[in-house]
Amino acid sequence: MKRTEYCGQIGLENIGQTVTLLGWVDRRRDLGGVIFIDLRDREGVVQIVVNPEQDKILEASRSLRSEHVIAVTGEVVKRSEETVNPEISTGKIEIQAESLGLLASSKTPPFPINKEESIAEENRLRYRYLDLRRPRMQSNIRLRHRACMAVRNYLDKQGFLEIETPYLTKSTPEGARDYLVPSRIHPGEFYALPQSPQIFKQLLMISGFDKYFQIVRCFRDEDLRADRQPEFTQVDIEISFSQEKAIFSLVEGLLRKIFSLKNISLPENIPCLTYDESMDRFGTDRPDTRFGMELVNLKPAFMETPFHVFRNILETGGLLKGIRIKGGSSFSRRELDDLAGLVGNYGAPALSWIRWIGNKFKSSFPKVVSDLELEKASHLAALSDGDLLLILAGDPRVVHDGLSALRLHLARRLDLIPSDRHDFLWIREFPLLEWVEEEGRYFSLHHPFTSPTPESLGRLEAEPGKAKARAYDIVLNGLEIGGGSIRIHDPVLQRQIFRSLGFPEKEAEERFGFLLEALEYGAPPHGGIALGLDRIIMLLAGEPSIRDVIPFPKTTRAQDLMCGAPSPVGKRQLQELSLKHSG
Ligand code: AMO
Repeated sequence: MKRTEYCGQIGLENIGQTVTLLGWVDRRRDLGGVIFIDLRDREGVVQIVVNPEQDKILEASRSLRSEHVIAVTGEVVKRSEETVNPEISTGKIEIQAESLGLLASSKTPPFPINKEESIAEENRLRYRYLDLRRPRMQSNIRLRHRACMAVRNYLDKQGFLEIETPYLTKSTPEGARDYLVPSRIHPGEFYALPQSPQIFKQLLMISGFDKYFQIVRCFRDEDLRADRQPEFTQVDIEISFSQEKAIFSLVEGLLRKIFSLKNISLPENIPCLTYDESMDRFGTDRPDTRFGMELVNLKPAFMETPFHVFRNILETGGLLKGIRIKGGSSFSRRELDDLAGLVGNYGAPALSWIRWIGNKFKSSFPKVVSDLELEKASHLAALSDGDLLLILAGDPRVVHDGLSALRLHLARRLDLIPSDRHDFLWIREFPLLEWVEEEGRYFSLHHPFTSPTPESLGRLEAEPGKAKARAYDIVLNGLEIGGGSIRIHDPVLQRQIFRSLGFPEKEAEERFGFLLEALEYGAPPHGGIALGLDRIIMLLAGEPSIRDVIPFPKTTRAQDLMCGAPSPVGKRQLQELSLKHSG
C-alpha cells in the first residue's frame, strides 16, 4: 500500500507505468460491463477503469460508494481522442485497474464533496473535516500554506528572526475584551490570552533582537463579523532603529511576494493618505478607493442659510456633507426612505437630497432654503442633469459614518466596484487619543505604546485630543489588513501617556511596571506592524469571509459547531480552579 503517485499529478509522461494510488471515491459509474471510478486525493482527480475481465476486483468495485477510501494499482494508459476530458488536468489519461482494495468505507456525506454548490454554513462547520475535503477549501488551505511560506522566506532573507511569545500571559490593551484562563496553582488568579504579542515584541527589541517576526495566533473577545474571528492570525513584525519609511517599504515588499501567488501585482508606490484626508474625502479611515463618489463639503453653500437646522449645526462645529449619485435622480421615494433608514442606523436623524431633473432642482429642504443655495450646493458637488445629491448634516462622526456607509452601499447596489482591482492604501497620522464619553476618559486609538508625532509632543498635556500618533494602517479594498506604529521608547513619555489615559500611577505600575522598568535599560527606538493574515488570504482567495480560509473557524457567535465549544465543565474541574458556577 505504498503510493507511487498522487491522482492529480498523473499525466501523459506516466503512460505505460504501473502506479499505486490512494484516495477517496469521488464518483463511481457502472456502465454495464465497465466500471469507472473517479479517484480523488489532495492533488486532484483521475479516472480509474475496471474492465469486465478483471473479475477478481469487479465485485469490490461494484460495491464502492462515494467517499470510500481505496488503494488501486494499475497501468496508466492514454485515452482515445473522443474520451479526453478537458475539464480535469488528468483528462488525457486513465488507469486500467489491476488490483483494488477497500481501506475504509464511508457513510453518505451530509453534502456532496464533488459539487460546487451552496451548502448551509452551519452544516459545513458541523462537518468541517468533510467541508475541508472539497476542492475549494483544499485550494484555500493550500494557498494559506504558500502565503505563510512566502512570509517566512521573505522575512528570513531580510534578516528577521521568528521568535515565539507566550500565550498564557497578562492582559495587553488592544481595545477588545480578553479571554481569561484561570490558574489552578494560584486560586483566584488568571492568565489572559494575548490580544497581540505587542509588549513582548517590544521587549525583544530591548533584548537586542533587532528584527523580529512571528506568525502568531491572537485572541480577542469581541463582536464577530465576516472579517473577524475570536482567534485569528497575525504576521507580527517589529524592527529597531527604523522609521515609517523603512517599515512601509518592507511591508510593501512582503505584500508583493504574497500577492504574486495569485499573479496580482502591486503598484510601484502605494498611495498614502493622512487620517484627516481620508476622513474628509471618504468619511472613514479605511476607504475602498476602487470607485469614486467622494464626499463633498457643502458648508460653503450654506454659510448664510436662513434654514435654522443647518445654521445651528454649522455654528456648533458640525458638518454638512454630501455624495453625488450619477443618474440617481430616478431613485423612488421608497428607495430614498430606505437610504434614510440606513443612515439612521448611524445616528443620522434625516437624509436630505437635491435632484436635478431637466432644468429644475427638486429637494427635500423646506422652502426657506433658496434656489441660489441649491445651485451653489449642486455646483460644489458637480451635479449634472439626472444626478442626485444625498446630504447629511450634524455631528462629524454621524455625518462621516452615515455617508461612508451610504457610499459603500450605493456602490455595491449600482455595481460600481471593479471586483478584479486591488487598491492598497496607507493611512497615517491617526489621532493619538479618542475621548469616550460613556467612560469619561481618553482611550488610545491604536494602543498606549504608540508614539505621538514630534509636533504633538508639546501640547500633549494641554490638548490631548488634538495629538496625532505615528500610527499607520494598510488598507486593501476598504478592509484594514494591517496596523502598526512607531513606539514610545522613552519611559518618561510612556508614563505621561498612561497619565493622559487616566491610569493612576499605581495602576500603570501594576499593569505595565515591567515594561516601564525595561524601558529604563537602554530601549532602542523601534516600531512595527501586524498584518491580518486571515484577511489577506481571504482577499487573495476571493472569498467573502475569513471563515473560508481558516481550517477550523468559529461561528459569528464564537462557537465551534464541530467540537461543541464552548461547553460547560464539571463541578470537579471548576473546584480545582477555585471557580464557582454562578447558576
Ligand atoms: P491591530 O489591532 O490593528 O494591531 O491588529 C492588526 C491586524 O490584525 C487584524 N485583526 C483581525 N483579524 C481577524 N479577526 C480579528 N478579530 C482581528 N483583529 C485584528 C487586522 C488588523 O489590521 N499590536 C498591534 C500591531 C502593532 O502595533 O504592531 C495590533 O495588534 O487586519
